[in-house]
Amino acid sequence: MFSSSRRKFLRQASVAGLVCSTDLALGRFLSAQVAPSASTVRVYVDSRRAIASLDRNLFGSFLEHLGRAIYEGIYDPGSKLSDSNGFRTDVVNEIKKLGVPIVRYPGGNFVSGYNWLDGVGPKQDRPVQLDKAWNSLNSNQFGTNEFMAWCKMVGTEPLMGLNLGTGTAEEAAALVEYCNVDQGTKWSNLRRKHGIAEPYRVQKWCLGNEMDGPWQIGHMLATEYGLKAADAARQMRYVDPSLKLVACGSSGPFTPTYLEWDREVLEQCYDYVDALSLHRYFENTEATTGGDSTKFLAMNLSMEQQIAETVAVCDMVGGRRHSSKKLWLSFDEWNVWYRARNGSDVNGNRQSAPHLLEEVYNLEDALLVGGLINTLMRNAGRVKVACLAQLINVIAPIMTNANGLLRQTIYYPYSWALQFAHGRVLDVLVESPTYEVSKMGEVPYIDVAGTVNPEDGKVSLFVLNRDLTKSHQVEVNWEDRAPARILSSILLTGTDLKATNTFDAPQRVIPQAFEKPSASGSKTTLEMPPRSYAVIQWGA
Ligand code: AHR
Repeated sequence: MFSSSRRKFLRQASVAGLVCSTDLALGRFLSAQVAPSASTVRVYVDSRRAIASLDRNLFGSFLEHLGRAIYEGIYDPGSKLSDSNGFRTDVVNEIKKLGVPIVRYPGGNFVSGYNWLDGVGPKQDRPVQLDKAWNSLNSNQFGTNEFMAWCKMVGTEPLMGLNLGTGTAEEAAALVEYCNVDQGTKWSNLRRKHGIAEPYRVQKWCLGNEMDGPWQIGHMLATEYGLKAADAARQMRYVDPSLKLVACGSSGPFTPTYLEWDREVLEQCYDYVDALSLHRYFENTEATTGGDSTKFLAMNLSMEQQIAETVAVCDMVGGRRHSSKKLWLSFDEWNVWYRARNGSDVNGNRQSAPHLLEEVYNLEDALLVGGLINTLMRNAGRVKVACLAQLINVIAPIMTNANGLLRQTIYYPYSWALQFAHGRVLDVLVESPTYEVSKMGEVPYIDVAGTVNPEDGKVSLFVLNRDLTKSHQVEVNWEDRAPARILSSILLTGTDLKATNTFDAPQRVIPQAFEKPSASGSKTTLEMPPRSYAVIQWGA
């Protein structure tokens, strides 16, 4: 089943009026920015007032056996840029430098038809597999052990996906045993036979992928999946009681079963899991935003609503069970994705490493990704893991070719989050003029999130200006203590929202120095240009 059928399904659901009306991304938006009054935006920061500690796994990513993510992306034995293990060293260095904390693997839709045993053991004995999700060939030369070695090299934690489509609970528990048990059992001994003495002790596991979607191999009803997830979780915990397990929530607010799926699944497995997953891809299309960038840039508020609604369902199920446990959320797929999403972009035609989902990102995508990162930070109290989908070549911030790599526009806001967001997420109060977006209401022109690091006192603010035509003066009011000095001040902006970076012109959209804000007493003032996202970091 090709994944384009996911879109077809969603389109049909929408035409049939099945799609949940709470989804803000559906239907035609009727709105436009009108000239805001010249009022100053006021931001109030009190370093004692925080939402939550920031789990760095909020800035994770995702690598699926899909297109050129693995083969030609991170693993390319034939490349002049690869080491003796076949790992692309330029990619390893880039990911290391970025400091990606956690990477989900091996899927995605792929995982629902994957037999992990095909990807371990002597390479010459591994079968070439037809991946039915993407109609592609997988040589299986890269599997679990190669992924673990790569994670170690780049310094990231694995977030392992399990096949709960064609796979059984027993096979899931066997993989846990293969990865986490020291020795003396069937599967731990097999790992040792494969040359790996030390267990990996993988902590976090996803119990399947998008099992609510009719496009998913092994798709089932919510109650069936909930029972299977509970069974898998029980068997896996017999092997290793320390695991953190994520059940599959809804694939997005577009599905006809949105929230109902989550509730029914959790009725079956609440007591056995730690977290629930969410997925979301944003589009600037005729059908979703009418192609209006002012609405597109407001879509992070729709992600905010999706999180709130999912939290409500989790807590409702937990409340009815009188459970003392609160689930956290794993937003384990999010990004912009709508151009490379049909036809040959999602059908591998039985090739190895086909060019699939090679979305080319522009400036407005990067601005929205900045807004989405702000939303994730504001929800750090419940969202403990989130994965930018994906990392290399497939809907990705980084692309490779034979000679090197390219940083797409969305790379920059993602790298800023990794570099500058540390410690605790500030409960920032923002007073901003607004514009109206139908079905969303009043949307602030200025969106702000921030962190304070108790260890070194550094404060970082991440500011999005959604206004396409005007700059806004932003006055930051330091309520407890004004920071001493500005350490960094960087801006992403441009005149052309559709500008992209390519291998031939890699610097069309890159960060620029942002004129240092002026400070006076307990106020700092900055001028946010139209169509911009900025990060400013202050030292204590
Ligand atoms: O990330 C691309 C695909 O999007 C994943 O395989 C699937 O989980 C989602 O629909």
